[in-house]
Amino acid sequence: LADPEFSADVIRWQKQHGRHALPWQNTTDPYRIWLSEIMLQQTQVTAVIPYYLRFLERFPDVASLAQASSEEVMSHWSGLGYYSRARNLHRCAQRVCAEYGGVFPADPDKLADLPGIGRSTAAAISAFSHGTRAAILDGNVKRVFCRVFGIDGFPGSKPVEDALWRRAEALLPERDMQAYTQGLMDLGATVCTRGRPACERCPLAHRCIARQTGRTAELPARKPK
Ligand code: ADE
Repeated sequence: LADPEFSADVIRWQKQHGRHALPWQNTTDPYRIWLSEIMLQQTQVTAVIPYYLRFLERFPDVASLAQASSEEVMSHWSGLGYYSRARNLHRCAQRVCAEYGGVFPADPDKLADLPGIGRSTAAAISAFSHGTRAAILDGNVKRVFCRVFGIDGFPGSKPVEDALWRRAEALLPERDMQAYTQGLMDLGATVCTRGRPACERCPLAHRCIARQTGRTAELPARKPK
């Protein structure tokens, strides 16, 4: 499954055409990266930005968030939706302060043990903060992989998801983890979109199975009924 051209194409594209000025980029502060990744789990970039900036102004570090009341945390989240994220965020801040002295652990397995942080979010935090070679696999990235490699079957099913994780691990580059991770996210969000993928702008189009077989509309497969 190793395929060094894959990450090289993603990294080159990210450096030339990806997003570089989002408020949570150009920092390696795990607190800021964690906060952005939680907000971005179910909310679009443009909606997140003003909340992210206001949140950081009131809670500039993990200790200030841990010490705040639930009411104040919820009031700064109000409007973003999926409020279990805010409750987990607050609990996570309290655990980072109690168990790790206010420093987010670098190890993705330790991150994934904290409230609200799944395997993919843990990998993103670790890659952006420390350049750790850890694989992300969110909905957007699943779509890119299913199309490029022509993977059939519903990506939410256990066997397909396991196969996608194995791919994701095997494709990791030796270096440039930040550009690679952000590049996969940006490709999925802005080029390899669900509705109308912009294949003419895709650095993987030359090797995309879905494109070669006219199946971008069928991949990834829908949830079976
Ligand atoms: N979605 C999830 N993480 C993201 C990030 N770091 N930048 C843009 N969109 C994202």
